[in-house]
Amino acid sequence: MRRLFVALSLTALSCLASGSIARAACAPGDFTKAQAAQGKILYDANCASCHMTNLSGGSGPALGGAKFKSYLDFTKITGAQLLSFITAQMPYQAPGSLKPAEYRSIFAYILQQNQYKAGNVPLTGQTAACIAMLPYPGKS
Ligand code: HEC
Repeated sequence: MRRLFVALSLTALSCLASGSIARAACAPGDFTKAQAAQGKILYDANCASCHMTNLSGGSGPALGGAKFKSYLDFTKITGAQLLSFITAQMPYQAPGSLKPAEYRSIFAYILQQNQYKAGNVPLTGQTAACIAMLPYPGKS
């Protein structure tokens, strides 16, 4: 009984730590296909020069496939953290130069390219907290 209590408290703590308090506001569907399509245009223009059109990585690390899976496995980064990293740090030579909605579209495109499922609800700051990066759904 006591062990169960400890396990539950730990789960609650790790939810708080990963910023998933917004989980209560989770909407089904993490991004839409339209958002990802918009994201592709923005990705090609702002990210592909370093991460490559097929996300395989170049002067920047891979954002798709086995290497991206290892990155997710190793860092245990959440969807919300990844979106804020991109928004704050990328493009590398001009961090924060795009609009928040543009970063969300680009993130939707990266998710789609890695076989995460699209839904009917667009990706927002809140639904980003609901995205389970692991298990990795793509080919690796
Ligand atoms: C000028 C080259 C360049 C451009 C353009 C660029 N990046 Fe990066 N990106 C990098 C480099 C270099 C790193 C590694 C930085 C580090 O570890 O601090 C990186 C890291 C990342 C990471 C973390 C992945 C990992 O394995 O560490 C993500 C996600 C990412 N970039 C997304 C983007 C997105 C989205 C765009 C477009 C909005 C973009 N990048 C544009 C060079 C670039």
